[in-house]
Amino acid sequence: MTLPLSPDKIPQHIAIIMDGNGRWAQSRGLPRLAGHRAGTENLRRIITACVEFGIKYLTIYAFSTENWGRPKSEVRGLMRILEDVIDRELDELHKQGVQLRHIGRLEHLKPSLQKKVRKAIEITQHNDRLVLNVAFNYGGRDEIVHAVQGIIADRVPAEEVTPELISRYLYTAGTPDPDLIIRTSGELRISNFLIWQSAYSEWYVTPTYWPDFNEEELRKALEEFARRDRRFGKIYTPS
Ligand code: IPE
Ligand code: IPE
Ligand code: MG
Repeated sequence: MTLPLSPDKIPQHIAIIMDGNGRWAQSRGLPRLAGHRAGTENLRRIITACVEFGIKYLTIYAFSTENWGRPKSEVRGLMRILEDVIDRELDELHKQGVQLRHIGRLEHLKPSLQKKVRKAIEITQHNDRLVLNVAFNYGGRDEIVHAVQGIIADRVPAEEVTPELISRYLYTAGTPDPDLIIRTSGELRISNFLIWQSAYSEWYVTPTYWPDFNEEELRKALEEFARRDRRFGKIYTPS
């Protein structure tokens, strides 16, 4: 039997680098896109589990600014998958109280896909059980460039530029920094994900490929997080 997790040890914000879809497919002799489809189906159960665990913010890395460098057919397939997911899952996510947000640049995507994403954001904007940030065409450096451009365009005086102000110009404005970042498939790198926001995030890496990362795996990550001692650069003096 598994013990319930103490609510005060549950992270408020989890971010996931959903990696390993291609290797998952390859290991089964399937095309890479089959791995991406399986990964998307997996997302459904992880979102539901996050709602049940009482997590308030979930950020998922679905397509990076560097992923445009993959073969055209894979890029096209990933765009189609996002479109299908919105068509298929929007009603259910809305019913579950999920508020959808997008982080990254929408403008390079197909106009019909942009429209779909905007509509999904609008429909779910008042939901408050879970905020789901979908990082699609997202890059951490691009986000910082975009923020600096905004700050300059608004003619913010130099002395008013603080870490808090920069946070307000990022795509994630209004979302607290991630407490826990999970990366599946064993890679030990950040791959341009939330580079500003992850300054004090706890990391959890599992060798499991994303399509196999289930509720049990999520629970393991949460249990590990509950055991971490977050010091934020300070030391504890006995009181
Ligand atoms: C993650 O899986 C999904 C995206 C990057 C879109 P990968 O496609 O990177 O899978 P691997 O890392 O090649 O196994
Ligand atoms: C990071 O995975 C991006 C997403 C999960 C969307 P990648 O597979 O693109 O990252 P690298 O190439 O291993 O660093
Ligand atoms: Mg990968």
